[in-house]
Amino acid sequence: MTKDKNTALWGGRFESAPDDVMQAINASIGVDQRLAAEDIAGSRAHAAMLAATGIISAEDEKAIQQGLDVIADEIARGAFAFSDALEDIHMHIEARLGELIGEAAGRLHTARSRNDQVVTDLRLWVRGAIDGLQEQIRAFQRALVALAEPHAGTIMPGFTHLQSAQPVSFGHHLLAYVQMMERDYGRFGDARARLNECPLGAAALAGTAYPIDREMTAQALGFDRPMANSLDAVSARDFALEFLSAASICAVHLSRLAEEIVLWTSAGFAFVALSDAFSTGSSIMPQKRNPDAAELVRAKSGRIAGDLQALLMVMKGLPLAYSKDMQEDKEPVFDAHDALRLCLAAMTGMIADLQVNTGAMAAAAGANHATATDLADWLVRETGMAFRRAHHLTGQIVRLAEQQGKTLDALSLEDMQRLAPMLDERVFSVLSPAASMASRSSYGGTAPHNVKAQIAKWKDALK
Ligand code: ARG
Repeated sequence: MTKDKNTALWGGRFESAPDDVMQAINASIGVDQRLAAEDIAGSRAHAAMLAATGIISAEDEKAIQQGLDVIADEIARGAFAFSDALEDIHMHIEARLGELIGEAAGRLHTARSRNDQVVTDLRLWVRGAIDGLQEQIRAFQRALVALAEPHAGTIMPGFTHLQSAQPVSFGHHLLAYVQMMERDYGRFGDARARLNECPLGAAALAGTAYPIDREMTAQALGFDRPMANSLDAVSARDFALEFLSAASICAVHLSRLAEEIVLWTSAGFAFVALSDAFSTGSSIMPQKRNPDAAELVRAKSGRIAGDLQALLMVMKGLPLAYSKDMQEDKEPVFDAHDALRLCLAAMTGMIADLQVNTGAMAAAAGANHATATDLADWLVRETGMAFRRAHHLTGQIVRLAEQQGKTLDALSLEDMQRLAPMLDERVFSVLSPAASMASRSSYGGTAPHNVKAQIAKWKDALK
């Protein structure tokens, strides 16, 4: 259904208004109103520069800044009216400015296009988002280190193939995630450093004939420098892709700990319990305590990785410079950001008051002959035997333990000596899980004194 007159800001050469469907597919205000603060900041910097270079008068600039004050206040108070007819956040703010200050509002868009405007806004937004996520990563790391500290010497089974492999320190296990989060922190930081260049002044695609000062706007907005190529400035979205890929990797890390929490809280493991604040009940089974938050963190990692895929596919094959396709860049960025913030907060909350069942962990660490490698290593160390032969002999001793239904350290020396006559009673000193864990003192290994040193290092670094 066409309407009589096209009142859009770009409507000068049109006779009739857009069809409702045209308006519906074109409008992005439902999504990009989140850029309001950044859009106003960009307009303030642009107006100040236009006045400083004599492109607009000082009076016009003053009126524009005052109008923008009013609009910022209206938006903050929820008193600003959004409508699909005005398409996007840029048109909304410009139209309202016109209502407030009249003619001068029309001068704000001199030497600027929505193409450089929108991507300036989004760069500013992603920059702020990274700062917030990095803070959350730090808080999560602190929670992990705080939980690791009393558990440097707590024995749990370390797994490979999810089969009990060798005893490790629970603190060591937690610190593995502190390391992952440190790299995620760094990845966000790297993305931030690269995105911090200002597209404003690239105008529609080719730059502008007005004598603008791009250094001035870049500086006012906290960017390191203006972007050097106007086509690149309006076309590039790799900053958003980098943000989404750092977010995806971080979310995948969180999903691994989330999965461990799901496993560890199950009756088969019973290594940990979640606090009431981070458990949910079942509407039919009164006995249940479900780890819903951990399951949702696990699921949201898929959603965040999907957001990365969505934007990669939007950008694939787009010719330079701006295409309207790029309007679809914001939703995945916002969605991934919101999901990751929730994931980080939920993981921090779960870890902060996790109850640890050290007895169940120790019992599981002692089961399944998890010190068999220590027995083989003892044979190598004490008798000079080749590791492959020691591995084979130890395998036979493990089979014997299985037949007798005993753990390795419960076998009698005589029984072991029938298979490996070179063994003596000193071997019992390595067959306990605690001795096994303490012996792994190579750099980065799980020996509790190593773990304590790492905890001290992290406490200092995370102050
Ligand atoms: N809402 C648009 C976006 O998000 C703003 C840029 C529109 N530019 C244009 N030439 N139609 O991409």
